[in-house]
This record gives sequence, C-alpha cells and structure tokens, in this order.
Amino acid sequence: MKEFKDKLALITGGGSGAGFGQAQILSEAGCRVVLADIRQDHLDQAMAHFRAAGAEARAIRMDITDREDYRKAAQQVEAWYGSCPDILVLTAGVNAFGPAEASTFEDFDWIINVNLFGVINGLVTFVPRMIQAGKQGHIVVTGSLGGLGGCPTTAPYSASKAAVINLCESYYEALKPYGIGVTCFCPGNMNTNIHEATMTRPENLRNTGYYESADSIEMYRRHNILGMDIREVGERTKKAMEEGVVLCIPYDEPEKMCADILQETVDYCTAEGIRRKEERDRSGSKNNSQDAAELKSLADARAVGFAAAKKDLSWIAEEKRF
Ligand code: NAI
Repeated sequence: MKEFKDKLALITGGGSGAGFGQAQILSEAGCRVVLADIRQDHLDQAMAHFRAAGAEARAIRMDITDREDYRKAAQQVEAWYGSCPDILVLTAGVNAFGPAEASTFEDFDWIINVNLFGVINGLVTFVPRMIQAGKQGHIVVTGSLGGLGGCPTTAPYSASKAAVINLCESYYEALKPYGIGVTCFCPGNMNTNIHEATMTRPENLRNTGYYESADSIEMYRRHNILGMDIREVGERTKKAMEEGVVLCIPYDEPEKMCADILQETVDYCTAEGIRRKEERDRSGSKNNSQDAAELKSLADARAVGFAAAKKDLSWIAEEKRF
C-alpha cells in the first residue's frame, strides 16, 4: 500500500499506546481515522489530539470481543463515510503476567478473547465488506515478538499472539488475489499503557491465578517506559504497509532477530537442541530484544511480585508465589 491520502482507516485500540501512534501517523499521511476502543477516557484523550491537529477523526466506543459491537461499528462507519474502511488496524490487546501453571480459565478466557477473538471478529466483520467494496486496502494486526515462542510467565498471551501471527499468514495468501495486503506487526516492549490492561478486565473474568498489586502494575509501567515510542510504532507500521511486509519485526536486522528467536523452537526438536537451549538458559544469553536496562527493570519488577502467582496457591512452588 503506497497511497494514504483520503483513505479511511479504522484502528482498534486507537485510543492509546500503539494504536494511537498508528492512528497519528496514518492521519498525518492523509488518512481519515476512526478510533475504536473500550475505554472512553482513552478515546477522549486521543480525539482531543486529533481535534487540536485539525484532523478528520471519529471515535467508536466498543468491545472487540463483542460481535454485535463490531457489526454496529461497521454500520456506523458506512453511515458516516458511505463505505467500509480501506485500512483495518487491529491493535487492541491486553496482557497479564504469572506462572503458566497458575493460569485460570478466566485468565485464558479474557486474554484469548481479546487478543485472538478480538482479531477474528474484526477480520470476519470487515474482510467480506472490503472485498465487496473492491477495496485494494491493507490489514494490520498487532501481534508481538512474544508470539514467536512460548513463555512460562505469559502463556495465554503468547498463545494468543502465536495464533494471530499464523492467522495473518493465512489471510495474506487468501487476500492477495483481491489486492488487500496483510501485515502482522510484532514488536517487543513499547512505551504504552498496557500495564493498565487489568482495568478493562470484565467482572465475570476477574478470577486470576496471578499476583497483582499497585506495586507490580507500577513496575510494569516502569518497564514499558523503556520501550519503543508510539510514533516510531506508527512510522514502522506505515513503512511495513508500504513495503508489503507480512511479518513486521520493527527493529534493525528483522530476519536475524526472527531466526534467533525461532531457534528456540527449532532447539526443541532434538535432545541435542534441548541441551543447547538449557546451556543458553544457564549462561543467561537469551536470544531476544531485551537490552540490559530492560532486563534490570524486569529483575526489579520481580521483587514486587511481578509475574508471580498468588500466595494462596499452595500447590505452586513457593519461590513462584508472592
Ligand atoms: P494500551 O493499553 O496502551 O492500548 C491498548 C488499547 O486497547 C487500550 O486503549 C484499551 O482500552 C484497548 N482495549 C483493550 N481491550 C479492549 C477491548 N476488549 N475492546 C476494545 N478495546 C480494547 O496497550 P498497547 O501496548 O498499545 O497494546 C496494543 C497492542 O500491542 C496489544 O495487542 C498488545 O498485545 C501489543 N503489544 C504490546 C507490547 C508492549 O510492550 N506494550 C509489546 C508487544 C505487543
């Protein structure tokens, strides 16, 4: 996708963080933007930015896990603009940290519903509309580097992101004949508000096995601050759309980074590989995007219970509880 002028872009999670950064850069490139988000305060803040910039932007409050909300959002966009979006950016997502073995059904239901079904709902709602309208547009799904492999403290999240990466490959091939591009944007840490994700967790899915406190959320926030700036997120997303990149790893040497991370999966194939992996784990030389400052912030975070299980889960090893 090379031409952004007067295109219509709908961005889920557009009220905050990565989605807000993507909306800013697309808007500055000439797009009309529709922000879709569950948090009214995020939508209000983002809309204030676009109003001040004199940009064409509208907001829809919706829950991406709700298919009826999606249907109504599609109708609303068609009522406003007479057509469906040219660009669909599915970025809204959530995360929570804790040992895999402490995960409850509610941890899985919440995170998989938002991060995977939120994307599926967007694709099933909008792809047929885009094809019928003859849109030669582009779909961006925000995945994560975390989707390229498993992780013992983000099992539901990693599973959801692995699934969306896989989905993007399927949709990329399927939509090529229609002239619709697909990109899965897979960053590591970003400077966003994802540490507040717990605020959007539905009441009926509150039962978690993970320890969470004001301190652990604050430590997550301090970790996020070290991540990629949201305008760079937007710039790198737009570049990936322009270049038609399918798996966007928004760092220098993306192929090497991807290969290094996937080596962990390759190593699971043989006993020799598993020995290599264990040796790497012992020496602490992980193949990922985390620099020394990030690793130190994660170590500090663990001291206040970040990524720990709840104390009352007595069947979990004591050192993993808080
Ligand atoms: P953020 O919290 O700043 O933005 C996410 C937005 O999604 C929020 O405005 C939130 O209200 C909205 N949202 C949450 N649940 C929703 C729902 N059910 N329906 C509609 N909107 C909902 O966080 P961030 O970091 O910008 O997250 C965006 C995406 O980036 C997510 O998919 C996340 O998994 C991914 N990501 C984030 C990383 C990070 O370090 N922050 C790293 C890798 C990927």
